[in-house]
Amino acid sequence: MPPEQPDSLGRPQAIDLAAFILRSGTFPAGPSELGTAELGQITFPTRTAPGLVTGGTASLTPSANLGQLMRGVTFPNANILFNVQVKDPAKDKPGMPVPFDYVLWGATVYYGWQAVDQAALALVETTPLFLLPGRRCENGRPVPVDRADWKQYTAALVDVGKTAYKAAQSRNVDAVNKIAEQLNETCANCHKVYRDGTREGSTAGASRCQ
Ligand code: HEC
Repeated sequence: MPPEQPDSLGRPQAIDLAAFILRSGTFPAGPSELGTAELGQITFPTRTAPGLVTGGTASLTPSANLGQLMRGVTFPNANILFNVQVKDPAKDKPGMPVPFDYVLWGATVYYGWQAVDQAALALVETTPLFLLPGRRCENGRPVPVDRADWKQYTAALVDVGKTAYKAAQSRNVDAVNKIAEQLNETCANCHKVYRDGTREGSTAGASRCQ
């Protein structure tokens, strides 16, 4: 910090800053001034909070149904990757929106290839949430997290996300566009079975996640 001037604080100033932050957080004071040696000895007490990782075991409980997770997380990130087909990220420098809009403003902060990197990594990091037990689909059925094919479809999306990230790193539009097709198929393969399928004559919505 600041991003345009990294390393502008010296080590002693950085340690003073750390001390200030610790004090502001009511961390108990030590017997002597904070230095490099003491910094290495500081440990933070852990506290249990709902939804946080505790003692190395994830204790996440889902708050969204699967449709909400897809629309809130999977869809927007996949769309950023698909957008490389219509807009070269290297030439994408969004201007400040008038009238002001938080979403559009956000795109002026992290844009271009950085946004593509983030979207690929967001898919890699969030897709395993499809396997979190306890989530339901919009029709009330539990997400079939124990099914072998559900696990495969989920793993396939994580893999494509990783491949997309590598492709994005090359800063090559064609490389990412090749992945876009694969990405589309990966979503569709699972949707065909678990979202859009009509089983035993029921309507698509009713047979979802079955
Ligand atoms: C492992 C299976 C699986 C994968 C992979 C998957 N989806 Fe889904 N998706 C579903 C299911 C099942 C639903 C229905 C959820 C519900 O009804 O609650 C759904 C719903 C959606 C919806 C909501 C649409 C609607 O009609 O309700 C969107 C948008 C969506 N998915 C986008 C995507 C995108 C984009 C990808 C790929 C990047 C993807 N999904 C990958 C299983 C999957």
